[in-house]
Amino acid sequence: MSKPSRRIVLTGFMGAGKTSVAESLAYHFDCRMVDLDALIAGREGRSITAIIDRDGEARFREMETRALLDTLEFKDAHIIALGGGTWTLEHNRTLIGEHDCMTVWLDAPFDLCWQRITYEDNLRPLARAKSKTEQLYDLRQVDYALAELRIEITNEKTIEEVTAGIIESLPGVMGDE
Ligand code: S3P
Repeated sequence: MSKPSRRIVLTGFMGAGKTSVAESLAYHFDCRMVDLDALIAGREGRSITAIIDRDGEARFREMETRALLDTLEFKDAHIIALGGGTWTLEHNRTLIGEHDCMTVWLDAPFDLCWQRITYEDNLRPLARAKSKTEQLYDLRQVDYALAELRIEITNEKTIEEVTAGIIESLPGVMGDE
């Protein structure tokens, strides 16, 4: 399968499945994917939790924007999984807009996100208490809704089904290499 002619950027709340779906899309298109959190953690040699807890969220956001810019400039990164907060910052959305990407919002209900957040070992420093996390979720909906494409995520949908749904919804995105 030829690579998508526009890069695909996945956004959505923590636990929406951005990394898994990005891996699945990369497998499908046989192309390179970048997970922004993994890139930042690798560069820093420590976890995202350690970065936010020790250096603060503001410093993390600077690293995130730097990593985003580097990824966008790296033309080989065809599929990009953002962190849950990346797309909510206007300057990051502007950068993405300047690099001709197709942005996809994985729209998962809060309860499903919370279930995954609490189930996974990957502790999220910005999702420690349920009520505060739900407030953050509600606050961000308006930003996520700015993505070009919205894909509904449910508990029943498999990663393959979500992947297929994205591919089907990308008219004109496919092209020859
Ligand atoms: C964040 C989400 C996390 C990570 C950081 C901040 C957020 O990524 O970037 O903990 O602000 O929503 P995931 O969405 O991949 O968990």
